[in-house]
Amino acid sequence: MSENHQISQVFDNHGRPINYVRLAVTDRCNLRCFYCMPADGIKYVPKKELMTYEEMERVLRVLTSLGVSKLRITGGEPFARQHIMSFLEKVVNIPGMNQVHITTNGVLTAPYVERLKQLGISSINLSIDTLDRDRFKMIARRDEVHKVKETFYKVLEADISLKINAVVIQDKNLEDIVLLSNLTKEHPIGVRFIEEMPFNGEGAHYPVLKWDHKRIISHLTDHFGPLIKIQDQAHSTSSNYRIPGHLGTIGVIAAFSRTFCGSCNRIRITSKGMLKTCLYDNGVLDIRKMLRTGSSDLEIKQEFLKAFANRAPDGFAAEASRSGKVTESMSEIGG
Ligand code: 5AD
Ligand code: SF4
Repeated sequence: MSENHQISQVFDNHGRPINYVRLAVTDRCNLRCFYCMPADGIKYVPKKELMTYEEMERVLRVLTSLGVSKLRITGGEPFARQHIMSFLEKVVNIPGMNQVHITTNGVLTAPYVERLKQLGISSINLSIDTLDRDRFKMIARRDEVHKVKETFYKVLEADISLKINAVVIQDKNLEDIVLLSNLTKEHPIGVRFIEEMPFNGEGAHYPVLKWDHKRIISHLTDHFGPLIKIQDQAHSTSSNYRIPGHLGTIGVIAAFSRTFCGSCNRIRITSKGMLKTCLYDNGVLDIRKMLRTGSSDLEIKQEFLKAFANRAPDGFAAEASRSGKVTESMSEIGG
């Protein structure tokens, strides 16, 4: 990954830099987390409608020319797509893409960890809502927690920066708030708790969010005593803390309350090649269509610029401007 690539930085209509892209390389997943999809899964995108690796690489190159320097590979489950490692080998070498991060559920990931280290992957986010076998089976609807644990220890051993993402779910994993936080005692990892969002492919439904960021923090404080607030990184979606004496950190992501939109530097590309300039919008540009109808890089760049100049100020405005209500699965969007 080249560190000194000189490029200009694009800003949106609210003065926010756009320097971070989250790319869903597939909508397929080997788990069925109930807050993400119904038990029988979602209707997967037909293969020919998924972006090809060549198409994705081309789009990433266009984006770096606009100042995007950070990439997160997500899904679905990235390691459920064939030949993902060859794609990663390519993207880490795109000039200007200074950081490449991966979000994975960790079930298929362990065999690749050493190679990911060699490639210089900047960090791995493991989606782990619980380390308890029965609760994992209930939440992810698959009996795979042992493989996730293997990945967890492999990533630690390889000394790749590691974060755990846990969605906090009423009646399902509340005991894990403390249990997962305890992992920060001896491990230099970030454990982040996420408010549940309505991106469930019409799986679960709640009239109101029971566990918002404030309640998660007060639950942590009740158990551990006062937390030490630490400096959040620029554009961070998590508010971060340390339990006194612990090596790692705790974060809370107000994904539903949307407290962080004012500094949002990120865009998303879905597995079908739709550009989303906000998690809550409906898709604002069909990139795949442009690629497949012969658009030049310059034309694609101009459409990106138009979309960035038209960004909703926050997730509430983006949600209000969409045609239908939020029902898609997170696996289509890429988290
Ligand atoms: N609400 C909150 N987080 C979700 N994720 C998937 N679906 C939802 C949802 N409905 C999380 C996954 C993973 C990240 C990519 O998004 O657990 O950590
Ligand atoms: Fe798969 Fe992630 Fe959705 Fe779970 S949350 S079903 S691991 S895409």
